[in-house]
Amino acid sequence: MSSSTTSPYGGLPVGGPGPRKPLTLPRLAEMRARGEKIAMLTAYDATFAAMADAAGVDCLLVGDSLGMVCQGLPSTVGVSLETMRYHTESVARGLQRVQGAAWLIADMPFGSYQESREQALRSATVLMQAGAQMVKLEGGGWTTETVRFLVERGIPVCAHLGLTPQTVHALGGYRVQGRGEQAAAVLTEQARALQDAGATLLVLEMVPAALSATLTQQLAHCATIGIGAGQGTAGQVLVLHDMLGMNLGKMAKFVRNFMLDAPGIADALAAYVRAVKDGSFPDDAVHAW
Ligand code: KIV
Repeated sequence: MSSSTTSPYGGLPVGGPGPRKPLTLPRLAEMRARGEKIAMLTAYDATFAAMADAAGVDCLLVGDSLGMVCQGLPSTVGVSLETMRYHTESVARGLQRVQGAAWLIADMPFGSYQESREQALRSATVLMQAGAQMVKLEGGGWTTETVRFLVERGIPVCAHLGLTPQTVHALGGYRVQGRGEQAAAVLTEQARALQDAGATLLVLEMVPAALSATLTQQLAHCATIGIGAGQGTAGQVLVLHDMLGMNLGKMAKFVRNFMLDAPGIADALAAYVRAVKDGSFPDDAVHAW
């Protein structure tokens, strides 16, 4: 049965929990503390942002995956800061059109933070002024001091470890990371350092389920958000187009197409939120390594 109702947003159907309080960092920490799973989804434009917000998505990520799904690029490497600013503004405007409850995160694109901490601050400022409430940057080790620098200056940071798509060429492809004792130890050390530097969210991408579950337990002040990282994380994220079955290439093992059982997009978005919250997505037997 459809859970859709009609919204003031151009008459689009929005199936979701109804009005809710805006998400904040303390509210995300509370959710994590009481064991409520955090549902995150990417968004790149105003309409989908409004629909995802109305469907009850907790965090919207303006991911640099837009390079692939919106711009047709072969990877995220070619995405510019100006493109991220444009899409962040669009998503922020869409959020304000309906209820504006979701927490808005924007990706720092390749080349916008690698040079120096000052360059990172300038790039993060562009995204925050476009409407982001938090920025995400990829990698561990050298990024730790950049994270600390941004957090000390009032910019909330989401870190990203495991498969970091901006370094796909260095990693040798889109493959599982953190396999084996040594790789797991390095990833664990990097995650701890990022937490200590002030990162409050940590995306774990394509990491073995057992490792991400252990990390989730160990990181008391940083909520893990998994993508292809099993059920044991504090939350989940998927690329919007993937979970709507709009994938031009091969669907990754960790993706579920929520359109298969939904009469419409609003219902698929609401089903995703429900499945993350009740733990039925991901199913480790199907979606994890
Ligand atoms: O760019 C993106 O969409 C991301 C998610 C896959 C986590 O970084």
